[in-house]
Amino acid sequence: MPALTVLIIGATGSIGRPVVDQALCQGHRVRALVRDVDRARRTLPKEVELLAGDLTRPETLTAAVQGVDAVVLTVNADGGGKAASEAIYYTGLRDLLTVIGPRRTRIALMTAIGVTVCETSYQRSSESHDWKRRAERLLRASGQDYTIIRPCWFDYNATEMQKLLLLQGDTRRSGTPSDGAVGRKQIARVLIESLTCPAANRKSFELITERGPEQTDLTPLFAALNPDRPGGLDGVRDIDNQPLAQEPDRVRADLAELRARIAAT
Ligand SMILES: NC(=O)c1ccc[n+]([C@@H]2O[C@H](COP(=O)([O-])OP(=O)(O)OC[C@H]3O[C@@H](n4cnc5c(N)ncnc54)[C@H](OP(=O)(O)O)[C@@H]3O)[C@@H](O)[C@H]2O)c1
Repeated sequence: MPALTVLIIGATGSIGRPVVDQALCQGHRVRALVRDVDRARRTLPKEVELLAGDLTRPETLTAAVQGVDAVVLTVNADGGGKAASEAIYYTGLRDLLTVIGPRRTRIALMTAIGVTVCETSYQRSSESHDWKRRAERLLRASGQDYTIIRPCWFDYNATEMQKLLLLQGDTRRSGTPSDGAVGRKQIARVLIESLTCPAANRKSFELITERGPEQTDLTPLFAALNPDRPGGLDGVRDIDNQPLAQEPDRVRADLAELRARIAAT
């Protein structure tokens, strides 16, 4: 497996931290974009290169992507309301894709199971899923190689529930742990292994667990999935409930600009 230089955005978080460990364990070089370098230095392993920055400050992103082969995003805007959802999940990714430009960069994006569900009161007040889904769409339109991982409830799985199950179509829609659960370390493993597995490219899936031991090889799991449709904005089996024509003007403009940039390269 090739050793990559991996930029992790969200490295100090509950998923980002095991993502860092997984990346180092697999022999990758790790760079972390962090908002507070001193705090990050106290929690992250010393091998991690720390770069001060913020997804909402595009001027900090250019240096962050310099020389990286791959990016993993596990950021969290929950609690910040609609503005934070847009700025962190969506605009941050848009600006990141802009600074990466045409340079081939493998991207692993964590969103959430139920991302196509927008009508609950929490989703209406936070627009968290709307902006995560728009971020997914930007990534699919970016021309980059990617994997989109929509984990279920973190660390709710019982000890006998370790077998990874990758689903498509976002059909588990209750918004409760009955939709499924998966361990934080398991999410980290899937994010990092997706970067070097060709079978994971252009795949979007929900990640849960079922009864049984965790698989040693993830390639057959990735290979069994359908890839996203070329030119399609949504996950291959997603419900069509966020029509582009009804999206905000700025979102449609961003997609048009992204597509024009790709066509020109
Ligand atoms: N809990 C669940 O069961 C569950 C299930 C599925 C999906 N999710 C989703 O998973 C996410 C939470 O993941 P988590 O638990 O790892 O979150 P977390 O522990 O809160 O960590 C979030 C990370 O994002 C970073 N971050 C936040 N804003 C940033 C910005 N503007 N620029 C750069 N970095 C920024 C934080 O950095 P700082 O150290 O600087 O704050 C931190 O490293 C949420 O989006 C949630 O909806 C949760």
